[in-house]
Parts: sequence; structure tokens; C-alpha cells
Amino acid sequence: MTHSRAIDDAIRERRSIRVFRPDPVPRGLIEEILDVARWAPSGSNTQPWRVTVMGGEQADALRQRLEEAAGVRNWTEAQREAQHKRIASGPMAWILDCVDEPIWDFLIGGSMRFFDAPVALLVSYPGKGGSWAPAAIPAFVTTLMLAAHARGLGTVWLGWPMGQGDTVREAFALPDDEQASAFIALGYPDPEAPVNLARSTRYEVDEFSRWIGWE
Ligand SMILES: Cc1cc2nc3c(=O)[nH]c(=O)nc-3n(C[C@H](O)[C@H](O)[C@H](O)COP(=O)(O)O)c2cc1C
Repeated sequence: MTHSRAIDDAIRERRSIRVFRPDPVPRGLIEEILDVARWAPSGSNTQPWRVTVMGGEQADALRQRLEEAAGVRNWTEAQREAQHKRIASGPMAWILDCVDEPIWDFLIGGSMRFFDAPVALLVSYPGKGGSWAPAAIPAFVTTLMLAAHARGLGTVWLGWPMGQGDTVREAFALPDDEQASAFIALGYPDPEAPVNLARSTRYEVDEFSRWIGWE
């Protein structure tokens, strides 16, 4: 059977990037990525995604505001230790071998600073987008991340900043009738950072699949 190896390779090679080079990303390149991502599937082809792209000083101001709002620097030793234990015993334990800083500062503090990436994207959808709207967002985001990867750019999808919903809404000037759904950091990966080079693991197909109507 023939298939597009380039697509398989992009899917297998993409990984979350957590150390970015400071180089700015040209607007044209981001537009090109969005131009690919819009071909993602959506319920009844409603294409409910809306994207707000932030860079420059505004992005730097948001990093600070998120760190402050989340009180990243005020966490107690006990809280930091609890996070360390949680990560050490979970599927992201590999990351502990790749960073010198305490994991709280790197992973959670880093997420709030969107890992100093030059660009942040907020994907939202209109509240009246219909019940299928939320399901279309991950399809769009995944397609976007693959399109970015194919162009030598790195991304990481970030849940932690979304915990500071008001700060995010305000900074991105989100219209009242839209739901914030996904926060993505975008930039050029630091090709030497060990944390960018390590590979996260996956379950085997027979560990997550069940078959009906097959021998
Ligand atoms: C909904 C969602 C939220 C995530 N939130 C964070 C986050 O806040 N910080 C972070 O460093 N990575 C975050 N990630 C990235 C995951 O940790 C990553 O996708 C997973 O460990 C698999 O690694 P890979 O993307 O390198 O294949 C998030 C991913 C998803 C899909």
C-alpha cells in the first residue's frame, strides 16, 4: 500500500517544544500555517475556530501577568515537592532528566511564560458555534501544530495558562461571545536543548484498541 511518508514522518517527529530561540516568526509564515490548519475537519464544516495571534511586547507583558496571576513564585516548598512527585510518577517523568531547574519552575512556571516563545496563539470559538464546536478545536490545533512542524517551527499546547482565564481573555481581547479553548506557544526550537530532543513515549496499539467484528 502506498501512503504519504511525509505525513507519517511529520506526525511521528512532532514533539512539544519547551526551549525556543528568541528569533521572531514572520507574520507571513504564521499566516501560511493558519492557511493549512483551516483544512481541519469540523462538524457540518462550521469551521468554528477563531485565532488570535500575539507577539512582541504584548506577549512579554502577558508572560509577566500570567506568572503573577498564577502566583508562580509564591508556591510553597510543599506544593513544589507535590508537583515534583506527581511528574516523577507519571508519563512525563522523562523530563526530570532533561532539565537542571526544579521541575515546578521549568514546567509550570515555564508554561505560564509560554516557555519564552515569541508567539502565543489563542484558539477560541463562538459560544453559539453549536455543540460540535468544541470538538473541532483539537482537530484545528493538531493540524496547526503539524503545519508548524513541517516548516521547522516548534509548538507546545499549554493548559496551565488557561487556568488564568480572565487574564487570558483580557490580554487577547476576546469578544464576550467567544470561549477560549486552546493556548499554543510558537517559535523556532532550540535544536540543542535536551528537553526538545527527548521523545515522549506512547502506548502500543494493542494497549488502547478494542476490535469488534474481527477475528
Ligand atoms: C490539552 C493539552 C494541554 C497541555 N498543557 C501543557 C502545559 O500546560 N505545559 C506543557 O509543558 N505541556 C502541555 N501539553 C503538552 C503535553 O505535555 C504533550 O503533548 C505530551 O506530553 C506528549 O508529548 P509530545 O507533544 O512531545 O508528543 C499539553 C497538551 C495538551 C494536548
